[in-house]
Amino acid sequence: MSLEMKLATTKECLFALVAEYPDAILANSYGAEDMVLMDLIASLELPIAAFSLDTGRLPTETYVLMQQVVEHYPRYPITVYFPQTSAIEDYVNRYGVNAFYDSVELRKSCCHIRKIEPLKRALAGRSAWITGLRREQSPTRENVQISEFDAHNGLQKFSPLLEWTQHDVWAYLHQHQVPYNALHDRHYPSIGCAPCTRAISVGEDIRAGRWWWENPDSKECGLHVKSSPLQRSI
Ligand code: ADX
Ligand code: SF4
Repeated sequence: MSLEMKLATTKECLFALVAEYPDAILANSYGAEDMVLMDLIASLELPIAAFSLDTGRLPTETYVLMQQVVEHYPRYPITVYFPQTSAIEDYVNRYGVNAFYDSVELRKSCCHIRKIEPLKRALAGRSAWITGLRREQSPTRENVQISEFDAHNGLQKFSPLLEWTQHDVWAYLHQHQVPYNALHDRHYPSIGCAPCTRAISVGEDIRAGRWWWENPDSKECGLHVKSSPLQRSI
């Protein structure tokens, strides 16, 4: 399928979801996919709000982009959510500042404090959220649907770029001169927290640089837990 056709499907999805779920919100990690969505929402002037989860451990380049985005899309502010201070203090004082390297359990509890709990606050009271998930990103994302009920968080979840390839994403970003994270030009196709993301080598999987010390099957932080098969139209 051509990029034009995928773009048409994505726009259709955005128009339809905003009509059915007027309080839908975009989860923006400032990664390449989220910048495509941000640019589409702004250029179509859709009334869709956005939030970002600042874990407190993001790379410097992500903060640089955050500031650029404020200047590039002045009419589309992104609400930032931080982790609860007491939970971070408790974790760091008990296990250490980089304890996520010690076990999958400690890694997951760090992700829980820094991402999952703030995500719950960001989604509270909403009927839908929008993510930049793409099917080809990982085996854990093979069965994602463009629109599905996220039973874990209790709301509808949309992934309008689901069928886009990495090439499609970059073609769009370049064509539309969208600001993007400088780390992408340094072999970081997927960017999360600084201590848990590294550059990849030629031939490596696009998510190989995320939690690279773990088994590929456990490489999700819990933001995207498998959704229920219950689906609604769109
Ligand atoms: S993760 O689960 O491994 O961290 P990934 O980085 O691939 O996720 O991003 C997938 C989608 O999750 C993004 O397109 C975005 O919608 C959402 N997301 C991930 N991290 C954040 C974040 N820090 N803030 C807001 N949304 C995020
Ligand atoms: Fe913590 Fe790493 Fe998860 Fe970020 S990605 S929340 S630093 S374990």
